Amino acid sequence: MTEKNIIDLKNIVVEYDGEQVLKGIDLSIKDGEFVTLLGPSGCGKTTTLRIVGGFVEPDSGDVFFDGKRINGLQPYKRQVSTIFQRYALFPHLNVYENIAFGLRVNKVPEKELQQRVRDAVELVGLRGFEKRKIDTLSGGQQQRVAIARSIVTRPKVLLLDEPLAALDLKLRKDMQVELKSIQQSLGITFLFVTHDQEEALSMSDTVVVMDKGVIQQIGTPQDIYNEPVNAFVADFIGESNIVDGVMLKDNLVRFAGQSIACVDKGFGKNEPVDVVIRPEDIDVVRPDESPLHGLVDSVTFKGVHYEAIVDVDGFKWMIQTTDVVRAGEEIGILLNPDDIHVMKKSEYSGKFGDYSTFSEEMDLLSDPNYQEDAEESVAAEAEE
Ligand SMILES: Nc1ncnc2c1ncn2[C@@H]1O[C@H](COP(=O)(O)OP(=O)(O)OP(=O)(O)O)[C@@H](O)[C@H]1O
Ligand SMILES: [Mg+2]
Repeated sequence: MTEKNIIDLKNIVVEYDGEQVLKGIDLSIKDGEFVTLLGPSGCGKTTTLRIVGGFVEPDSGDVFFDGKRINGLQPYKRQVSTIFQRYALFPHLNVYENIAFGLRVNKVPEKELQQRVRDAVELVGLRGFEKRKIDTLSGGQQQRVAIARSIVTRPKVLLLDEPLAALDLKLRKDMQVELKSIQQSLGITFLFVTHDQEEALSMSDTVVVMDKGVIQQIGTPQDIYNEPVNAFVADFIGESNIVDGVMLKDNLVRFAGQSIACVDKGFGKNEPVDVVIRPEDIDVVRPDESPLHGLVDSVTFKGVHYEAIVDVDGFKWMIQTTDVVRAGEEIGILLNPDDIHVMKKSEYSGKFGDYSTFSEEMDLLSDPNYQEDAEESVAAEAEE
């Protein structure tokens, strides 16, 4: 990856039937970067890809390629190639001719064509399949033909719209690794679309999280996972407990009726916040070893760990632990300052991150003016 931008989208707006489906997209992609657009169905991923490919013209905003404005430039004149979700291979041509197609259109001399097709076939591991008809190939093999066909023309940027969605899980994992290694060996810029968060985290240099036509966050997979900017991102990427809280001061946040040390700072005094705690960061201890303790509702064995839902004063936490926990058991949950991530309130606050529903008790408990003795009366009430 170089420091030079290959693609710049500036304030891109796209409207359909008076409704904005892209609401001012700003995105810069570096030459050789693997960028993934991630978000729920309908958030505008494919539309963003089409803007880059030249299949959709923005209602406003600018598209730059290598520093030059390319609005209005025909798709075939852009140094961009697309792999669609349905690979759009030619069923009447064999593997070799499918891959060679773009080169024939461009009148590449026969000798060079043969060499380039051979290299592409080699790269995607299809040697020996050249004469096979498309409809005799498996899904994964067709996928490889589609990749070979796209890279043989040596585009600067490859657009991939959910290219692995049709494959079963095992094959999908293999292809993730292969695609990544093809991208690295060719040094082509990839703009990849998926709604699978694990796929996005494992393959990308940069992840772009979208919702409702708006980019919510751009960052490395680690940034996105560890420092989500709001409840939407925290919820969409991995599992999250998201709790209402109040930032008492730098490095001290109040939630679940407790004031707890954290590493976050820079919020206003007593600013209401969303607090996210990943299930795998929670330590299970004896009930008397933590102010936060509750009853285990249910436990699911997940192979590597157990996943438990724990009821702490009516809020259901998800925890993942390798310790054995049992339904009906009382446990303590211990949080280290590093495991707490504080986020600003947003339009997504209160919509995500509880494993049942927010209870009235939790609202009360997160109030900074709420006193410890009130806590006891709630506990007494609950016992009645
Ligand atoms: N040609 C069109 N005419 C009208 N509306 C459209 C058109 N193309 C897309 N849309 C709408 O724009 C929004 C964004 O669509 P887009 O295809 O970009 O979503 P996506 O993120 O790719 O979703 P998915 O994960 O389902 O593929 C959707 O609400 C869609 O219905
Ligand atoms: Mg799409």
